Amino acid sequence: MPVTILVGTQWGDEGKGKIIDVLTRDVDMVVRYQGGNNAGHTVEIGDNKYVLHLIPSGIFRESIINVIGNGLVVDALALQNEMQHLVERGISVKNIQLSDKAHMIMPYHCMMDRFREFQREEGKKIGTTGKGIGPAYSDKAQRCGIRALELLDLNLFKARYTEQAEKYNKIFSEAGFETLDIEASWEEVKAAAIYLTPHIKNTVVTVNEAVKANKNVLFEGAQGALLDIDHGTYPFVTSSSTTAGGACGGAGVSPRYIDDIYGVMKVYTTRVGEGPFPTELDDEVGNHMGTVGHEFGATTGRKRRCGWFDAVASRYSCMVNGVNKLALMKMDVLDQLPELKICTAYEIDGEVTKDFPSDCRALEKIVPIYETIDGWMEDTSNITKYEDLPEKAKKYLDRVAELVEADIAIISVGPRRDQTFEISK
Ligand code: GDP
Ligand code: IMO
Ligand code: MG
Repeated sequence: MPVTILVGTQWGDEGKGKIIDVLTRDVDMVVRYQGGNNAGHTVEIGDNKYVLHLIPSGIFRESIINVIGNGLVVDALALQNEMQHLVERGISVKNIQLSDKAHMIMPYHCMMDRFREFQREEGKKIGTTGKGIGPAYSDKAQRCGIRALELLDLNLFKARYTEQAEKYNKIFSEAGFETLDIEASWEEVKAAAIYLTPHIKNTVVTVNEAVKANKNVLFEGAQGALLDIDHGTYPFVTSSSTTAGGACGGAGVSPRYIDDIYGVMKVYTTRVGEGPFPTELDDEVGNHMGTVGHEFGATTGRKRRCGWFDAVASRYSCMVNGVNKLALMKMDVLDQLPELKICTAYEIDGEVTKDFPSDCRALEKIVPIYETIDGWMEDTSNITKYEDLPEKAKKYLDRVAELVEADIAIISVGPRRDQTFEISK
C-alpha cells in the first residue's frame, strides 16, 4: 500500500481510527491533513482503549512517523495534553511531527465557537464540538491566524497572542460575554509552545521525501465527506476539506502520487450534532443501533443520531472521494435486526432522484425510498473471513457495495483489531 488516503464517507465516526490502526501493520508514516481536536478516533488494542483527537492513529507502532499536517488547526494545549496522556500510558510520542505551517487554535477561538453557537437562533445552531475549529479556520482565511512556526519565537508569539486575544475580548465584552484573562492564559499557552517546540518541523518536506523514497504513507482523514465544507450538508458541516482532495493541500503532496482511496463507512448511518439526516430513525430500531453500537461521541460524549444505510449519500461520497476500496464497519450491530432497509433514492417534492442535493432545504424535505432486505439474525462478531458470513449478510454487504459503486476491501465485525478481515473481490 504505497500512498493511500483513508476518509470517512458519512458524517464522521465511521471507525476510521480502527482501520488506520489495522492498516498501519504495513505503513511507515501516517499523516493527518485537516480538522483538529473535533475528531475522536478510537483504537482498541487488546484490553486498552485509546481515543485520539489530534495525534495520528499510527502512534501505537514505534517505527511509524506521525505527521500533523499544515491543513490542521491545532489547539496547543489540547495537543500537549494528549501527548502527555499517551506518555503516561507508556506510548512514545517522539515520532510526532507538527507542521510549522499548521494554524493554532488559541483559547479565544474556543470561546468564540461557544459564543457563535449561543448567538445562533434555534434551528440554525450547528451543534459544533466547541473546540474552536470554525473560528480558527476563519482566522486562517482572513490571514490573521497564528501558525506553529510562530511558537518558536516566544517574544513575537506573545505579541501576536496578545494582539489577537485583545481583538476577541473586545467583541466578547461588547456583547456582554465573558472575556479571556490574557495574562493567565498566556502562561499556559507559553508552556504548551515550549513543550511542542521540538516537534515543529517542515512536514511538507518530511512527507514528500517519504513518498519519493517509496515508503508506505497513509493519510488519515477526520470527520466525513458529508461534513466537508464544500461537499457536505452546508452550513451543517465542519470548516475543513474532509474529502480525499483535502489530503493534497493539507499535507503539501501532489495528487500525482496517490494510489488508493479507502472509504470507511458504517453499514448503517449516524450523525452527531445538528443538520439534515434523511434516514434518521426516531424509534426502537434507531435506539437499538445506538445501544448495540455504543453510539456516543468520542469527543463530546453526545448521543449520536442513528438511521438506515443511505446509499444515495454514500454513493455521492464515494464519487467525490474516488473511493476504490471500501471498509464496511459495524456489521455486528445489525446482527439482531430481522428486517433491514437501505435507502436507494430520495423523493423531494414528488420528484424521485438518486443524486444527493446541494441545498440543505431540499435535504430536510426528503422522503427516503427504501429497499427491504432480510436480516441474518446471527452473531457475526467472531467471523474471520467473508466466506463464513451468513448468506443474507453477504447479500446485504454486496448490495451496499453495488449501490455505492465501489469494491469491498475490509469488513469489520467488532471494535478490536482482530475483528477485521480483508477480502479481495
Ligand atoms: P472514527 O471517528 O471514524 O475513528 O470513529 P469513532 O472512534 O468515533 O467511532 C467508532 C466507534 O465504533 C468506536 O467506539 C470503535 O471502537 C467502534 N467500532 C469500530 N469498528 C467497529 C465494529 O466493527 N463493530 C463495533 N461494534 N464497533 C466498532
Ligand atoms: P471524527 O473524525 C462526527 C460535527 C459536529 C458538528 C459539526 C461541526 O471523529 O469522525 P465543528 O466542531 O467541527 O465545528 O462541528 O461537525 N463533527 C463531527 N461529527 N465525528 C467527527 O469527527 C466530527 N467532527 C466534527 O458534531 O455537527
Ligand atoms: Mg470519531
